[in-house]
Amino acid sequence: MEQGAIIVTGASRGLGAAAARALANFGAPVVIGARTASDLEAVANDIRARDGRAVTVVGDVTEDSVRARLVETALQEFGRLRGLVNNAAMLRPIAPLAQAESGAWEAHLQLNLIAPVLLTKLALEHLRESNGRVINVSSGAALRVTPGWGAYDLSKAALNHFTRQLAAEEPNVISVAFRPGVVDTEMQAEIRSTGREAMPPEAYARFVRSFEEGELLPPEKPGRALAMLVLWAPQTLSGEYVSWDDPRVEALAEPTSADPPRG
Ligand SMILES: NC(=O)c1ccc[n+]([C@@H]2O[C@H](COP(=O)([O-])OP(=O)(O)OC[C@H]3O[C@@H](n4cnc5c(N)ncnc54)[C@H](OP(=O)(O)O)[C@@H]3O)[C@@H](O)[C@H]2O)c1
Repeated sequence: MEQGAIIVTGASRGLGAAAARALANFGAPVVIGARTASDLEAVANDIRARDGRAVTVVGDVTEDSVRARLVETALQEFGRLRGLVNNAAMLRPIAPLAQAESGAWEAHLQLNLIAPVLLTKLALEHLRESNGRVINVSSGAALRVTPGWGAYDLSKAALNHFTRQLAAEEPNVISVAFRPGVVDTEMQAEIRSTGREAMPPEAYARFVRSFEEGELLPPEKPGRALAMLVLWAPQTLSGEYVSWDDPRVEALAEPTSADPPRG
């Protein structure tokens, strides 16, 4: 496995933690970030216990200094930055625009949109050097409108467009927007606990039914797909919005002898 670290934001639980573990299983060193030190350290310890390499950066990714530490740590600890997974995000505010607090919209866009854009900007020169990859964790919400989810729908649609923009501007960096499916994480629990008042009844009922009928994906499935994309996504996927179960993702797990070396 070629050296060079992968940064994963929002890796203290859920999809980000699963992606970090999958990356370590594939032999890649990871720099993982989130605010909750104890949870983040538990993920790192778990990786190290399986002979993986993980370094933590505790802090709020909406802060300039935290984004700078993520990139600096990757370079200092592992010499090179090979990939960035912009995963940290929130769903709040779940409320129609007329009832939502302005501050909640601002906080949402800072985390879900501004932080990934500015972290990518910081990482770009290093990703150019390594012919690296940026994976922006998007959502089906990028294409759909759910009343009450205005901030989330907008931030994920904007991330998809940012991914296309980046692909057009940076020929030496592969940029992919990733749709993880409906995953059994705290974000889904939040929808079930707070969505009843603010969402259309049929949309809310669909989320509850998916949970009760055991249809939510375990984070390990999309986490593995996310890891494969940030390690091996080909140039042909740059700018694309790719679902976790896209056959082009699973094909990355089975390189043939005709494939070029995986950088
Ligand atoms: N779950 C789903 O069904 C689903 C579906 C489509 C898309 N997604 C997307 O998948 C990604 C991961 O979601 P998830 O379901 O795993 O969510 P989650 O369980 O809520 O995890 C979110 C992660 O982000 C971190 N985080 C939150 N705010 C942060 C901040 N200000 N600074 C740094 N880290 C922060 C959290 O850790 P701390 O609280 O410790 O900071 C946590 O590690 C998100 O982009 C989400 O939009 C999820």
